[in-house]
Amino acid sequence: MKQLLTFSLALLFSQVVFSQQHAEQNHSKYVPPTDPQVQQKLEQWQTVKFGLLMHWGTYSQWGIVESWSLCPEDEGWCERRGPYANDWYGYKKAYENLQNTFNPTDFNPDKWATAAKAAGMKYLVFTTKHHDGFCMFDTKQTDYSVMNSPFGKNPKANIAKEVFKSFRDQDFMIGAYFSKPDWHTPDYWWPYFPPKDRNSSYPPKKYPEKWEKFKTFTYNQIEELMRDYGKMDILWLDGGWVRPFSTIDTSVSWQKTIPFDQDIDMPKIAAMARTHQPGLLVVDRTVTGPYENYVTPEQQIPSHYMPIPWETCLTMGDSWSYIPKENFKPARKLIHILVDVVSKNGNLLLNIAPSPQGDFHPEAYDRLKEIGNWMNVNSEAIYGTTGDKDLGPQGKLVFTHKGKTVYAIYRADEGEALPSKIDIKNLTLGKKATINLLGSKDTLRWSAENGTTSIAVPEKTAKLVPNSYAYVFKITDF
Ligand code: GLC
Repeated sequence: MKQLLTFSLALLFSQVVFSQQHAEQNHSKYVPPTDPQVQQKLEQWQTVKFGLLMHWGTYSQWGIVESWSLCPEDEGWCERRGPYANDWYGYKKAYENLQNTFNPTDFNPDKWATAAKAAGMKYLVFTTKHHDGFCMFDTKQTDYSVMNSPFGKNPKANIAKEVFKSFRDQDFMIGAYFSKPDWHTPDYWWPYFPPKDRNSSYPPKKYPEKWEKFKTFTYNQIEELMRDYGKMDILWLDGGWVRPFSTIDTSVSWQKTIPFDQDIDMPKIAAMARTHQPGLLVVDRTVTGPYENYVTPEQQIPSHYMPIPWETCLTMGDSWSYIPKENFKPARKLIHILVDVVSKNGNLLLNIAPSPQGDFHPEAYDRLKEIGNWMNVNSEAIYGTTGDKDLGPQGKLVFTHKGKTVYAIYRADEGEALPSKIDIKNLTLGKKATINLLGSKDTLRWSAENGTTSIAVPEKTAKLVPNSYAYVFKITDF
């Protein structure tokens, strides 16, 4: 048992280190956009800092991982359960039949947008189609969509459209998650060859006509989303194995397993998408190059400040998809994650998964509310800031920066009172600099010695701060 635990910990650790390297490696290869409208949108996106990701599909009815149980790979996250576990064909059929019972009658995206906005979120990314190929929008390219589920008769049946509208109405930037791989269409997993893994079931170069059909299908679906769903800001493309063979980075282990070229012609797709949506951010995840306008480390935070545009996507609980008994991270932890990400110059895209009835767990609303309470006092240390590459994390302190103001954020543990003296290394202030704690108007006394600034915090001032998850010192140097 102990051995097993050590082994899994080692594995987990190596994965974290590995993806960390990956995130940081991307940094030197990042290709900045040249289109001024894209540059402008990217700058705007970098000021908003905090977004909501949602994974929602028919899989929510079984309370299982999104899509992956269809994938015949020997990986933990692909495991099948239930009566068809030992029969892949039977399983796929039963899974796809979930379309016939999908009926989220509690669906009310205004409620989500209101809760997300109150938490301080300012952008949204929603799964229009995950790898399983089920479309949460009214596509004309396949019948495998919400329009042909029992919910199809509901006035809000075009789920993606409704979600986009509700969030747009509350001033969110809008992103469409779209999976390039599609495990439903016979032009990707061509039934002539049973699929062996996540990749196309046939080599595209050998069957170019088939692949052409798949490319057209993908192009048309993306065009529907970019043309018919109002103003869009981000096209967030997942499934990085669908890419030109020449772009594979062999230093990344999962990319080594990609067997063949799966080029869907991103230049053409991006050009089309931007004729409908000028300035659109295209995020062709992990495909470093001109169509990855920002990089997206997943479930982890890079170890250092990164100067390029980046976003950590991360789950509020443990999974991307809805599971009935979710283990939500405490609000304190979520706030600490947010400030850590922002201090390293990134954005946080926090995932919540709706239930089959079409709502979040009550705990998710609780967390959003608690984050909102903290943001109400402290959001000026988040929005429009950049990370601070010189100060870096110093124990429980992290730093953000805006003009002449530095925000020093102290991540307090549960039950911990703010120390009466805070030392900040490598910070030299002018004589007239002022410091106060957000949430209190008291000006704090400070002194400087050998490049270290020490702030004195009277207990009564610390007590004025309405919540104690993380304390923000606003340091303004004139
Ligand atoms: C992981 C999951 C995938 C999910 C993605 C979100 O790659 O495997 O299903 O959509 O994370 O970032």
